[in-house]
Amino acid sequence: MPEPIRVIVTGAAGQIAYSLIYQLAKGDVFGADQPLYLHLLDIPPMMGVLEGVVMEITDCALPLVKGVVATADLAVAFKDVDAAFMVGSMPRKQGMERKDLLSANVKIFKEQGEALDKYAKKTVKVLVVGNPANTNALMCAKYAPSIPKKNFSAMTRLDHNRAQAALAQKLGVGVADVQNVIIWGNHSSTQFPDVAHASVLINGSKKSVSDAINDKDYLQGDFVKMVQTRGAAVIAARKMSSAMSAAKAAGDHMKDWWFGTAPGQHVSMAVISDGSYGVAADIMFSFPVSIKPGGEYQIVQGLPVSDFARKMLDITAEELLEEKKDALSLCQD
Ligand code: NAD
Ligand code: LMR
Repeated sequence: MPEPIRVIVTGAAGQIAYSLIYQLAKGDVFGADQPLYLHLLDIPPMMGVLEGVVMEITDCALPLVKGVVATADLAVAFKDVDAAFMVGSMPRKQGMERKDLLSANVKIFKEQGEALDKYAKKTVKVLVVGNPANTNALMCAKYAPSIPKKNFSAMTRLDHNRAQAALAQKLGVGVADVQNVIIWGNHSSTQFPDVAHASVLINGSKKSVSDAINDKDYLQGDFVKMVQTRGAAVIAARKMSSAMSAAKAAGDHMKDWWFGTAPGQHVSMAVISDGSYGVAADIMFSFPVSIKPGGEYQIVQGLPVSDFARKMLDITAEELLEEKKDALSLCQD
């Protein structure tokens, strides 16, 4: 058995955490033989609810769980963590855009970035889920200067999974038969779900998704709109934001980051931009990444960018630059 690792979930008394913690605790993310300590952080008024979550973890009788640390104290919560799921923050309500949450949430990520800097392992892998996820992740990284920026990411995997599942439904194939969709940019309604480099396995032979669907108007129109607005559609139906699918996506993101992607496959992750594809540097931008076993990601290079894609990339990058400006000013207050 490997040595136990320490995994923090913030917002641990909330909706997403309720699905996520079980996946972590039963070995779906870090492996079926990887023991772990769960660090669960929430705010003081939620300690009673968190106690109930801890009772349930105990009652699951899961052999990989070596201990649970449930706390509202940042120093205790972030101590020596190897992986961080940064979920704790306010979700949006119907009619809001995710960036409307910036003023409510960004300071949480500033403060918790400082705590990561002080208490976490320098090798920690940080996944920001709380919205607006890209810009919160940027601020979290900024306030943790002793941890490499490449250790911070924001979640666009839910959008990636939504795109993959929608294409599989349209083509009448299994989800695993659709590969290499890309979410570019912000986890917001300006994101660009791109199928230009995606493939599908139909009756044993591999085709490009664009050829298999052969409907440019759909792929650049309704499909893009559906993925961009899927979060809002879930809120309208459920009266609460997505939780089960968000937790699944967080697990997928971290699992691929921890273990690596299969050869020839890429996934979407918002990471610090190095200027690839003409995107402004120093924003958290979702790119296609391939990940080596052991966790080093690389932005996939050299994909052709059409005029349509260029326009879409520029729109979402522009939004991220604006969010960055607002976040920097909020964090200075
Ligand atoms: P929720 O309200 O059910 O839970 C949030 C939890 O965070 C609550 O228990 C709350 O007490 C806690 N919290 C608030 N401030 C905190 C702080 N400073 N420190 C620690 N905990 C704190 O919300 P949820 O449905 O779990 O969603 C959480 C966040 O995830 C929201 O911002 C939501 O918009 C976002 N989200 C992102 C994606 C994505 O794809 N990136 C998907 C779904 C939801
Ligand atoms: C989602 O995409 O479902 C989440 O970001 C929640 C939201 O506000 O849409």
